Amino acid sequence: MTANNKDHNDLSSPTGGQGALHIDIISVLPDLLASPLSHSIMKRAQDKGLLAIKVHPLRDWAVNEYGQVDDYQYGGGAGMVMMCEPLAKLIDSLREERTYDEIIYMTPDGETLNQRTANNLSLKQNLILICGHYKGIDQRIRDHYVTKEISIGDYVLSGGELAAAVLVDAIGRLLPGVLNDETSALTDSFQDDLLAPPVYTRPADFRGWKVPDILLSGDLKKIDEWRYEQALERTTTRRPDLLKD
Ligand code: ADE
Repeated sequence: MTANNKDHNDLSSPTGGQGALHIDIISVLPDLLASPLSHSIMKRAQDKGLLAIKVHPLRDWAVNEYGQVDDYQYGGGAGMVMMCEPLAKLIDSLREERTYDEIIYMTPDGETLNQRTANNLSLKQNLILICGHYKGIDQRIRDHYVTKEISIGDYVLSGGELAAAVLVDAIGRLLPGVLNDETSALTDSFQDDLLAPPVYTRPADFRGWKVPDILLSGDLKKIDEWRYEQALERTTTRRPDLLKD
């Protein structure tokens, strides 16, 4: 069966493409990815032509007319396994068009996603993300195609789509030009291994709960120092593991 690349699965804007980070996502539930990747900052990234996302329905590469892409596992046991053939054929067809920096399988037994991994992946040009379902994908695809396996945390989701959306969001917002000054990624939690300091907005007094005086002082140097101290204190109490190195 040949691929039927439907337009509605191309989440990139017409201006997207050259120079953009290109991400191909393989999924049995493509609709699940449409909304999270087509709003807010992910939309802006694509509209600006900085990020191109294309979702590929795996069923377009099914082994039969019933749309089969999974089968029982050898050795017995509950749960279906995603078959080699549809995945291999789809990835082969993608590879005919471009060279990939990484072929990533979203799986709970992968390396846990952190800011450093997102930073590194944001420097790449072409990525494939494979979303697993059921018991996961046949090990031979992991052995012969997949170059990186990523988990978004120690819990099991019903499929890799939401994990892939999290990964794309974490990467996409780091691409130069996607965020403006107000939303700059440089002051995010984790960017310097520190959690972000507390933030406040108007009014300065809400129900008698006051904004710290220092933030109203106009003394930028002192404000920077205060923010750093707060970030350090928050990290020490909440995530001392981040300070280890
Ligand atoms: N698929 C199912 N659970 C997952 C997780 N925690 N991370 C990545 N992919 C997954």
